[in-house]
Amino acid sequence: MPRVKKIEKKDEKKPRKKMTPIQTVRGMKDVLPPEQTLWDHVINESRKMCQNFGFGKIETPVVEFSDLFERGVGELTDIVEKEMFVFETRGEEKVALRPEGTAGIVRSYIENGMSKWSQPVKLYYEGPMFRYDRPQTGRYRQFHQFGFEVFGDPCPAVDAQIIYLAWKICQKIGLKNITIQINSIGCKECRSSYKNVLTDYYEMKINKLCTDCKRRLLKNPLRLLDCKEEKCMQVASSAPQIIDSLCTGCHDHFKNVLEFLDELELPYVLNSSLVRGLDYYTKTVFEVWASDLENGARQLSLGGGGRYDNLVQSLGGEPTPAVGYSFGIERVVEQLVNAKINIDMRMKKDVFLVQLGDKARKKILRLFDNLIDANISVGESVGRGSIKSQLRIANRYSSKLALIIGQKEALDNTVIIRDMESGMQEVVTLEDAVEEVKRRLS
Ligand code: HAM
Repeated sequence: MPRVKKIEKKDEKKPRKKMTPIQTVRGMKDVLPPEQTLWDHVINESRKMCQNFGFGKIETPVVEFSDLFERGVGELTDIVEKEMFVFETRGEEKVALRPEGTAGIVRSYIENGMSKWSQPVKLYYEGPMFRYDRPQTGRYRQFHQFGFEVFGDPCPAVDAQIIYLAWKICQKIGLKNITIQINSIGCKECRSSYKNVLTDYYEMKINKLCTDCKRRLLKNPLRLLDCKEEKCMQVASSAPQIIDSLCTGCHDHFKNVLEFLDELELPYVLNSSLVRGLDYYTKTVFEVWASDLENGARQLSLGGGGRYDNLVQSLGGEPTPAVGYSFGIERVVEQLVNAKINIDMRMKKDVFLVQLGDKARKKILRLFDNLIDANISVGESVGRGSIKSQLRIANRYSSKLALIIGQKEALDNTVIIRDMESGMQEVVTLEDAVEEVKRRLS
């Protein structure tokens, strides 16, 4: 007799081990249907506004050669030094998940010969970006940006137009209490003389700096200006300002940008500490802040951008001036939620179908199909039994009408149309139901 049999039986009786559920990767999140309403609102208004301003949509791959960001964003930036998701493909190519959109769009501008197109070339984009940052409120490892870029126009009026567009989008989507923080970081020439002045200043205060800033001082002294450590912020507040080191060209450019903004009556705050965390900028830099971020309380900007006149050339294209902006969709949506901006987050259905019994259920399925074909949004809960519980769901969906088929209506081929607000009910034939619903909804 085989001895193992006994052991098998024993095993069968053992309670099944519960599987550990798999969770999202740290710093990444799901966006569920109720929140999608806000996402759609933000994206749709931004798209409409960009199209009105003459921008065309561009999509670029999520994966690019990591070189693109090393050369584009800058090897000494936090993004490239610490935050990129880099990996090798099976073909041994070193690639990265894009940490931002601009470098990929510049790559595409060059690769697709857009310098031959009628200039300026105006492009907008949206999609996921990836940064291996420390996750916290408003900071994720996968997040989404909406952005727009203009290529081929050096005029300060275009800087102002980009800032104006960023502002208009905020207004349109209902963001209140925001400020535009603006600065100029000059061109290569004036920036290098400023870096010397700044390094001299910081060397005298070296003992008051955090470890990161001591390290950054050698490589990129500008970044010390926007360190968020309290002690470094204090040192930065008396640092020499770049505005005093701008060459005549950069000075005039900045003055013109501000004059255009004045003309457009856009409120802005001159912020001499604003330097941005990416290396490609020249001249104008700006950010959109929610006003509760201003005193350094929670320095998460909603969006940022500026001019980058050398990037196209440094990535292998013709010298081409450019300027752009992008904002973080998660941060903007969170801002709308925090500010309790009155955008209905409920999923709305024009009509809700209610049924009682198997026969009615069959009729409902056909009616559902006819309503969808007529472009009417329909909710249903065919699994539910009681009419009361189904009407409760209809309320949750803010449906204007409920269409009810009980046992009697199923036999008569009729349907009760109930106005959910007044409670008034009327019986119509199933055949006339869709036309009657259309009439009432219009
Ligand atoms: P950025 O300031 O690095 O600029 O990012 C723009 C926006 O993306 C930020 O203001 C923020 O709202 C959002 N963002 C950045 N990192 C995260 C994160 N870890 N989690 C959530 N949201 C985040 C750029 O990316 C430039 N490409 C902007 C630009 C366009 N400059 C010229 N054209």
